[in-house]
Amino acid sequence: MTKFIVFEGIDGCGKGTQILNAIDLLKDHTTLFVTKEPSTLKTGKLIKRLLKEQDDPKTNAELFTNLYTKDRKEHNKIILKQLNQGHTVICDRYYYSTIAYQQAQGDNIKKILKQSKKFLVPDLTLVIDIPAETAMQRLKARGKKKEKFEKQKFLEELRETYLKMPYYGKILDKNSDRKENIIIIDGNRKPEKVFEQIKEELKKL
Ligand code: TYD
Repeated sequence: MTKFIVFEGIDGCGKGTQILNAIDLLKDHTTLFVTKEPSTLKTGKLIKRLLKEQDDPKTNAELFTNLYTKDRKEHNKIILKQLNQGHTVICDRYYYSTIAYQQAQGDNIKKILKQSKKFLVPDLTLVIDIPAETAMQRLKARGKKKEKFEKQKFLEELRETYLKMPYYGKILDKNSDRKENIIIIDGNRKPEKVFEQIKEELKKL
């Protein structure tokens, strides 16, 4: 059976490492299509450019929601095609990022949730949770140029929303057949330990 798996969390949470671990585990069992949002499609590229240009995280919330949604619409077609071809899809970020980031930027959560409902529902969403301070230290250690969302106070707000994601999942599912499967993973441990828990969740699929 093909599955659609999403990894989520604040910048610096360790998604990258855990996605590599998941690929390593799953590649012997299924064919994989690994992807990310913002995507590498036209709108995704525009988003990446804007993120580098702007410094204040609390600006242009609506513009960003619209751009991420447009990118997601295009990207969803690719994901669906891959699933239909029998591939398991791993996606780094999805509409949960819009729920967390664009809400923290100041956009309207009701509107964001309404738009999120229109997209394919993942079979499993893993939210890797770490304290904002730890994330900040990791981002600093990486030493790459700061993007607009990598500020500690903003990361703290994001973390709070991510911890509430199972609750948002229930709102998304309300009065419909869709079914969210959102698991919070404690990412504040050794990477091997974190992956042990992720592995258990993947096995359940
Ligand atoms: P990117 O730099 O590609 O991600 P990463 O830091 O995981 O390599 O992502 C750019 C930023 O986009 C990231 O800080 C989160 C943000 N983002 C949103 O604000 N809303 C969204 O819907 C998505 C998908 C990402």
